[in-house]
Amino acid sequence: MLTIALSKGKLIEPTLELFRQAGYESAALVGENRRLIFPCPEIDTTFLIVRPSDVPTYVEYGGADAGIVGKDVLMEQDSDVYEPLDLLFGACRISVAALRAEVACDRLSSKVRVATKYPRITERFFNQRGVPVEIIKLYGSIELAPVVGLADRIVDLVETGSTLKAHDLVEVDVIAQSTARFIANRASLKLKHAPLMDMIRRLRKAVAASQKAPVMAGGKSAPKRASTSAKDRA
Ligand code: PRP
Repeated sequence: MLTIALSKGKLIEPTLELFRQAGYESAALVGENRRLIFPCPEIDTTFLIVRPSDVPTYVEYGGADAGIVGKDVLMEQDSDVYEPLDLLFGACRISVAALRAEVACDRLSSKVRVATKYPRITERFFNQRGVPVEIIKLYGSIELAPVVGLADRIVDLVETGSTLKAHDLVEVDVIAQSTARFIANRASLKLKHAPLMDMIRRLRKAVAASQKAPVMAGGKSAPKRASTSAKDRA
């Protein structure tokens, strides 16, 4: 029996669709009510629905054998988990943004105040550039911070860019790209090797099938458009 932690929010629908494509039909029932645990004995799997930022914890400490979570969360948490598969959906980027009016006047010679729900990623990024930073940890609605004078910059997820635009913010740096990942507990990989490797193989095949797209000039396959919004990933 495998236990798989799924990120609730915007990643849940494409995740369940991928499991269906991979032949796990009973995944269709997951998330249909307020339940947080869905035993599916016919596929020898139990699905857990957890906050995206809790998925690495469930997997690292063995509450789940494996999980699905955004790369943004993995980068922030540095969890000791195995990451065998990029699922390619949920594509977005982690960016630094500022009010359009503030970009021109470069005040970054002094300490820059940055609002974010990614304090570690933010600290690493500014430290690498030798820019002194004060981090304001928020849990959501990050784009408000510069508007009300709480911060000079934000570090947040950008997918379509419409939330930035709605608040007159512009991206000034892209820190990293993010997509959904399959992660696995290191002990489970040994103790439940056969079923976990079978799941990884089936998911990998489904991801490859979902990426089959018309061949563009130059011989490269067109990358599939991200099917989810950036919302609810962190
Ligand atoms: C996420 C992210 C941005 C927005 C980006 O927010 O933090 O605010 O989505 O998407 P866009 O580029 O397509 O506009 P979310 O809705 O998860 O809520 P939050 O602000 O509470 O984090």
